[in-house]
Parts: sequence; C-alpha cells; structure tokens
Amino acid sequence: MDTAGQGTVTESTRTKNGKAEAKKEGSEVPEEIGDDLSAGLAGWTFSGGVYRTFDEHIARSVPMYAECHDLILELSDFFVRKDSLIYELGTATGTLAGRIAQRHAKKIRRVIGIDIEQAMVAEAARKCGTIPGVEFVEADLMAYRFEPCDLVISYYTLQFLRLEERHDVIRSIYDRLARGGAFVLFEKVREPDGQLQDLIGQLYLDYKLQHGFTPGEVMAKSRSIRSVLEPSTSEENQDALRAAGFRSVGIVHKSLCFEGYLAVK
Ligand SMILES: C[S@@+](CC[C@H](N)C(=O)[O-])C[C@H]1O[C@@H](n2cnc3c(N)ncnc32)[C@H](O)[C@@H]1O
Repeated sequence: MDTAGQGTVTESTRTKNGKAEAKKEGSEVPEEIGDDLSAGLAGWTFSGGVYRTFDEHIARSVPMYAECHDLILELSDFFVRKDSLIYELGTATGTLAGRIAQRHAKKIRRVIGIDIEQAMVAEAARKCGTIPGVEFVEADLMAYRFEPCDLVISYYTLQFLRLEERHDVIRSIYDRLARGGAFVLFEKVREPDGQLQDLIGQLYLDYKLQHGFTPGEVMAKSRSIRSVLEPSTSEENQDALRAAGFRSVGIVHKSLCFEGYLAVK
C-alpha cells in the first residue's frame, strides 16, 4: 500500500559490531496490519491498492459489518419513494450503494456513491457497473453539492473528517433532504466514561484477535489511525444531528464501540 515510503532517518544507534543502524520513525515506516495492508504511525489511508483487500479487512474489523448493511437496506424501505435520489457517502468499493440500487431498482432515479479515493471509485464502478441506477463519483464530501434527495447513508465515513467538517456535511445533508427524508449515520464512538471506554476498548481488542488479526497487526492498525479517525461520543453525534435540525434522532445499532443512528427530517 502506498503509505510505505523510504522513511526518514531520525536517529542512529550503534550495534555490537560497531555499525551504525538507522532507526526510522513516524508515518514513513509501514507495519503490517493484516489483509496485505500496511501503514505507519498516524499514516492510515484508503488510497492506492487498499481497495484490493478492503472488503475482507473491514468485514473482520467492524462488528456486525454485513448485518448492518442488511439493517440499512431494511431501513431504506421506509424512505425510498418513486423517483428517489439516494446518496452513500464514502462508498469505498460500492458494496452498499450497489445493494441499495438493486433493492429499489423499480422505484429509484439513482443511487450516487461518493468517495474521495480515485482507486475506490474505479473499483466500485468495476464491481457494480452492471447494476442499473447506481453511479460513483470521485469527490470530497466537504466540497460536494448535494441535490434534493430522500435518503443519505454514511456508513463509517464521517469519522474520518475533522469534527467541524462533520458538522458542515451534516448541515448540508439536512438542507438537501426532503421533509420526511432520512440520514442514516454509522460511526465508531468513544464512551464518555473512562471505565466503560477502557472495558469496551479491551473487548474490541479481543474481537479483533478472535477474528484472526495478530496482536502486532492490531497494534499497528491502532497506531496508524491516530489523528486519522477521531471518534465522537454517542451524545455528541446525536447532538450534531439535532443541531442541524433533524426532528427524530435515535440509535438503531450498537455493538461495542460502533453505533448507528437514524435521523429523520
Ligand atoms: C470505512 S470506509 C466506508 C465503508 C463503506 N461505506 C462500506 O459500506 O463498506 C470510509 C470511506 O470514506 C472515504 N472518505 C474519507 N474521507 C472522505 C471525504 N472527505 N470525502 C469522500 N470520501 C471520503 C474513504 O476513502 C473510504 O473509502
């Protein structure tokens, strides 16, 4: 993966035979995080070849990843109408956008999957190219101009934006949703209480070990997302949705540090 680099020599230590040995540090030094992916300290990215093993990696990294796709499909039945426009933000390889388009093929105008990474968008188009009614757009959510729509889904994507940016995107979604339309938001969350955060954090580490990651891969992934993924608390997420104007906001999923919300305009 292209987080690998030549590295910056920041320090040298002397070995027994007297040779100087370079010690590298920082995001330039990639470490294995499983599924043929590697990333350095605070160096996680979705670019380059990540798309190749993304589906396997996320499926065993996020509890109930596939089940929550199913849940979102069922939720979509309440909001998709004739000629609806639906967005999936951070579509990655397009799995969810493709399934939404297939489920509502007879009704919808379009499902638009948006992602900032060119390689992800290309893979999504390759994987879902034959599904009618779905298209993929390479764009930064921060700059994207949404059209009037009935349903917007963000499945573990806004967490990669800075806090103020998340709020801006939520406001622009609210502005373009039809009255009665919905925003489905899933995010990794932080517990407001220290003891609970510690306990849930440890259970999540166990989850990853149980799903075949080695302790080294778990540690490397955790180090790689420093400054890249900053979770909010459940209350902060729900407050942001209410502050944007959503009238009904509630939790539709929780598993360890992963939560899903439904917000209706
Ligand atoms: C965890 S993945 C999303 C998983 C996907 N929704 C699914 O169901 O499998 C997050 C995605 O968000 C994209 N992303 C991150 N920041 C973005 C931004 N500012 N604009 C658009 N996409 C972004 C990443 O490239 C990545 O593909």
